Amino acid sequence: MKDLLVSENLTKTFGGLVAVNQVSLTVKENSLTLLIGPNGSGKTTFINCCTGILKPDGGKVLFDGQDISGWPPHRIWEVGFVRTFQIPCPFQGLTVLDNVLGAMRNAGESPLKAVAKTRWVEQEERNVEKALDILGRVGLDKHWDKPSYTLGAAHLKMLEVARGLAAGARLIALDEPIGGVDPARADEILSYVSGLKELGLTFLVVEHRIDIAASYADYVYALDRGTLIAKGTPGEVLNDPRVIDVYLGREEAC
Ligand SMILES: Nc1ncnc2c1ncn2[C@@H]1O[C@H](COP(=O)(O)OP(=O)(O)O)[C@@H](O)[C@H]1O
Ligand SMILES: [Mg+2]
Repeated sequence: MKDLLVSENLTKTFGGLVAVNQVSLTVKENSLTLLIGPNGSGKTTFINCCTGILKPDGGKVLFDGQDISGWPPHRIWEVGFVRTFQIPCPFQGLTVLDNVLGAMRNAGESPLKAVAKTRWVEQEERNVEKALDILGRVGLDKHWDKPSYTLGAAHLKMLEVARGLAAGARLIALDEPIGGVDPARADEILSYVSGLKELGLTFLVVEHRIDIAASYADYVYALDRGTLIAKGTPGEVLNDPRVIDVYLGREEAC
């Protein structure tokens, strides 16, 4: 499998704090790659630097071989690299279905629509069909007509994933998809996500709960205080003494 996302020595500082310190990692196409680390280890900052929300101070980000370092977020989104947020932020008043429709790339208004009504009606019917199919894949089909503010934490995370799919993403970076979700629902979320690999999608999942997330990962990187401290298969990383020390040796990590 080819390398879909590569970061080379990516670095981000906030004043004197090095939040991301020369991080080099690779996300293989069609994999679920996990980036773990305790709170404050630089996971969100890393994703923000990769997706254009923050400008890195050093290093490079390559997506499908193209240097996307410093690109604005919308350009990165357009090439198929979509991220979700630690705190999901759907359009609260809209239904689940409308949130997904709104994320589709051809959802925009155009003056041509006015003169070709039958064509846009057909297009909108196709979009609704596609959106319902996406909702089925993330377990939200029964909730399609609910306003999104009525969804619980687990469903809100899946709505974020559904919006990524609707946007035609090739790589979806998920920032703590099981944060704030109880363990049983956490497994459900991760099974849905790993099931989506069937569609050819690639995932970069950022988590601090290694216990639940590791079994769904193809490859794992571990971050501590901005620096990569381990990488390998889930088994290798979970048994790495430095990772054990970070997770068990320090109280604040749990
Ligand atoms: N905008 C910011 N300004 C200053 N410091 C920040 C900012 N964002 C994050 N940090 C700091 O950078 C470090 C990494 O944060 P973050 O990337 O949010 O970690 P994680 O997502 O792993 O919990 C933390 O020490 C945090 O306080
Ligand atoms: Mg974070």
